[in-house]
Amino acid sequence: MHLSRKTFGKCQDRNVHLYTISNDNGLVVSLTNYGGIVTSVRVPDRQGIFANVVLGYDTLEEYVSDKAYIGGLVGRYANRISKGSFQIDGKMYSLACNDGMNHLHGGSEGFNKKIWEAQPVREPDGCGVALSLISPDGDEGYPGTIDVQVLYLLSSDNALIIDYTAATDIRTIVNLTQHSYFNLAGEGLIHDHTIRINASGYTPVDKDYIPTGSLKSVDGTALDFRKERKIGTVLADADNPELIEGGFDHNFVLDGSGGLSLPAAKLYHPGSGRTLEVYTTEPGLQFYSGNFLNEQMVGRGGVPFCKHGALCLEAQHFPDSPNQRAFPSVILAPGHVYRQTTRYQFGVRI
Ligand code: GLA
Repeated sequence: MHLSRKTFGKCQDRNVHLYTISNDNGLVVSLTNYGGIVTSVRVPDRQGIFANVVLGYDTLEEYVSDKAYIGGLVGRYANRISKGSFQIDGKMYSLACNDGMNHLHGGSEGFNKKIWEAQPVREPDGCGVALSLISPDGDEGYPGTIDVQVLYLLSSDNALIIDYTAATDIRTIVNLTQHSYFNLAGEGLIHDHTIRINASGYTPVDKDYIPTGSLKSVDGTALDFRKERKIGTVLADADNPELIEGGFDHNFVLDGSGGLSLPAAKLYHPGSGRTLEVYTTEPGLQFYSGNFLNEQMVGRGGVPFCKHGALCLEAQHFPDSPNQRAFPSVILAPGHVYRQTTRYQFGVRI
């Protein structure tokens, strides 16, 4: 295993670093303490040819101006909160509304725009970076000062493991996730990928992507991925009313408690043989098919992004949970520790 650090640039008068971690199989993950962003993940195909399987940019400046959460750590609250408001113990809180009338992914300056403290970590079966951040009381409107720790670890068996913890001084809400955009071909569209998602239900949303509060079965819908299906087959039916913006942007309610032993989702690219399994302790998985990516956004090496050019598998609690009593709680109280672990396991199918 190998870990190195170099200067990535300067931002908010602070030096920002780029960490590069590689394991003995040649997998290479790069990440920066600006926004906890994963900038690059290079993995082999079935012939041993490496490609970068996440979207990214070349420079820090591009990450600073990015609005698509490319590769970022998302918090305090991933996904949407209706009208940016919620109550805890009868007290109303108002958050920054940065997605029409609603709050999205932590607000105007979410965790993906903060500079994190970083420490290299070397463990017997992995190498990585421990990031930490103090988000002060009132940050983007959230109550309480929270102390957030995120450990990124590249394991010797080709997994990128993300361990999140957070603690607070007064009751608040926390829902953290990772927003890497994957394309296992390393280029082109995601249509020829297949996906399996271990979810019998999803949370339907209104026109502003806010959950209606009900849970709906995926049975007989475009969202039934309990058996492996080709993504392009479903995307071809763009007018299907179950799709959003002609694609996926849905919170899947994961079945049972697969946790870290059964995959919540499995992505496969037949051409290269590359696979990605997602394991998580979270109850939900947002499958977002890059519907808002477009050619005006130019990525690494000057190559423009494109709609459905990559997809996100964001392990998280359900959207708008602070306003939905039936959804699992996202409240964090003093003396308790928020924990979530997600494991992105890379492999090949021969
Ligand atoms: C999430 C949301 C999408 C979109 C992207 C960022 O995945 O669900 O609707 O906002 O982030 O562009």
